[in-house]
Amino acid sequence: MKKLKTALFCLLLAGLQTNAQSMKPIYLDNSQPIERRVEDALSRMTLEEKVALCHAQSKFSSHGVPRLGIPEIWMSDGPHGVREEIQWDSWGNAGFTNDSCTAYPALTCLAATFNPEMSHAYGVAIGEEARYRRKDILLGPGVNIYRTPMNGRNFEYMGEDPYLASVMVVPYIKGVQQNGVAACVKHFALNNQEEWRGHINVNLSDRALYEIYLPAFKAAVEEGKVWSIMGSYNQLRGQHCCHNDLLLNKILKTDWQFDGAVVTDWGGAYDTKQAALNGLDIEMGSYTNGLSSKAKFGYEDYYLAKPFLDLLKKGEVPVSVVDDKARRVLRLIFRTAMTPNRPYGRFVCEDHSATARKVAEEGIVLLKNDKQFFPVPVGKYQRIAVIGENATRSVTEGGGSSTLKVKYEVSPLDGFISKYGKEHVTYSMGYASGPSLYDREEPSKLNADSLIKAAVETAKNADVVYFVGGLNKNHFQDAEGGDRKNYSLPYGQDKLIDAILKVNKNIAIILISGNAVSMPWVKDVPAIVQTWYLGSEGGNAIANVLSGAVNPSGKLPFSFPKKLEDNAAHSFGKIAYPGDSINEYYKEDILVGYRWFDTKKIAPQFAFGYGLSYTTFEYGKITTDKTTYKADETVKVSFTLKNTGKVDGAEAVQVYASQPKASVIRPAKELKAFKKVFLKAGETQTVSVDVKVKDLAFYNEKNMSWTVEPGEFVLRNAASSAEVKSSVAIQVK
Ligand code: GLC
Repeated sequence: MKKLKTALFCLLLAGLQTNAQSMKPIYLDNSQPIERRVEDALSRMTLEEKVALCHAQSKFSSHGVPRLGIPEIWMSDGPHGVREEIQWDSWGNAGFTNDSCTAYPALTCLAATFNPEMSHAYGVAIGEEARYRRKDILLGPGVNIYRTPMNGRNFEYMGEDPYLASVMVVPYIKGVQQNGVAACVKHFALNNQEEWRGHINVNLSDRALYEIYLPAFKAAVEEGKVWSIMGSYNQLRGQHCCHNDLLLNKILKTDWQFDGAVVTDWGGAYDTKQAALNGLDIEMGSYTNGLSSKAKFGYEDYYLAKPFLDLLKKGEVPVSVVDDKARRVLRLIFRTAMTPNRPYGRFVCEDHSATARKVAEEGIVLLKNDKQFFPVPVGKYQRIAVIGENATRSVTEGGGSSTLKVKYEVSPLDGFISKYGKEHVTYSMGYASGPSLYDREEPSKLNADSLIKAAVETAKNADVVYFVGGLNKNHFQDAEGGDRKNYSLPYGQDKLIDAILKVNKNIAIILISGNAVSMPWVKDVPAIVQTWYLGSEGGNAIANVLSGAVNPSGKLPFSFPKKLEDNAAHSFGKIAYPGDSINEYYKEDILVGYRWFDTKKIAPQFAFGYGLSYTTFEYGKITTDKTTYKADETVKVSFTLKNTGKVDGAEAVQVYASQPKASVIRPAKELKAFKKVFLKAGETQTVSVDVKVKDLAFYNEKNMSWTVEPGEFVLRNAASSAEVKSSVAIQVK
């Protein structure tokens, strides 16, 4: 009897549960597929509630549906760490005391690792911090192509090659999104400069658009499955990118089948009808009345707020338009705030510091190392002079929206002192960038000559000099909102280096920057290291590499031209860069970066893909599994790689492809595969990489599609775009 009662009770309970479950609306039922939840939620919403989903309610949040218990969306910058809390309705910080984050290296450094595993670790770590800070969208990564060394925001992006950026952006996105936080790849598209960024109208060929500037975004969408994308401020062929029919409706949402939400850059919307009809989903940061002035709390005046509701009510825009937007926003919410089993994230922990340090160590690029200047092991020298303001200056703050309030930051000087011992390190500022972070080229309050004099004195009495200079994320010096004014190092650094060389030639130039710079002293110094903006662990990473604790393996994600005029975008007059303030024409077309240097046979100072190691590597002859391929096949490339030195190391091997006899102009060669190979001293490995024949295609402007022409292609293995090791020809049927 007792058993019967128990069985009956269980049946009753199950029934109640099912009933309760069936009572619970589908959109709240975590066991239901997202698309069912989206449709159910949509069916319950009023027109006003749908429109509300399409625009900001505050500086960094957009509406949910309070009546239905659908949460609002909270967004935060940036690509290198989670920005401090910003006030509800201004750019000012909110003064929180729980939001000091881990700063990861800038994305140029991540790209320089040539290691997708680093990219995934980076995404997981920064995604955990965004999740812990209760953000639903992390406003990054940025993948705009490095077209000119003048662009103020190159430090936030992944270099000049679309294939490198395409491979490196995907794991970052997956790492972020596995935390239930949406990545927001930006700035879509052609935001390749800061000069006139709000309106410059970019004109370029379809080939340049599809072959150079879109691939990283395409990979982010098709392979990374990114849940949101940010439109850029500039125009493309006469339409603002935040509501651009070609970019958003045709390419993004039709060709690429993007099912996420398009968010404006802050203030990137300019017109209600275009915003409604040209693919924009969430309007953020607009000046509320659309003019230069800004009403307070005027979020209802946004283009996609009341004006949009009016158009819908008048029937000038069909309800299906707002339904599509609302679906995308709801899908974003169900993937983040309302996703079942959402992880809880973590904030500022040893794992995150370790990841920041590892990316930094793997991204540092050793550019010159005569007579094995480096490594400088502990104890080699008694007196190490560290000279330059960048040895002590914070590089985690400044630069614009990617600025960070950090829990800690190890400066290069801190790193050297903890590595070599305080008694062996003497610091002299040498040059000063001015009193504040945002000085606008004001002359420094400090007297330049006295700084140089003191630095020369320090250098004279030292066994070795570590010059730590570069740019510093001040305005015009690698910062959002302004491009650099010239290609040289600022603040008299070249003059200072010359002065030091007169008293001590045993000097290494350690550059902290997100851009190439001119190097008039390149022949006079024995060692040069490109160390990027490295985040909280920067000083430790630099000290580990320079002391030999870590063997450098970074390679340049963009070329360093000898002089600015050698650069493609600077070879066609002002109309090619920065434009005439209204229009700009990308006259170099597909020949960006090494594509230009190779094809025009101009030797760069340092080449794309270049970087030294403390060991040496020997490449075997490149081979392929067959000699003839059909268009839908994959070429299996292999070659041996031997570590011929005395220390373990890693080498980012590269494979470039070219089509000698094409019916159209094609670059001399293009990166189509790479791999980071870790080898013990003396070890040999057979490296295997795949090159899809379809990736050898060019964008055919005649029939608006990708074409692989039958005929010969040549594949080359290389240590950089300027160090080809061997080649092999294949035939495509
Ligand atoms: C800025 C930047 C963008 C950033 C956004 C929010 O203007 O262009 O990258 O995410 O606005 O700060």
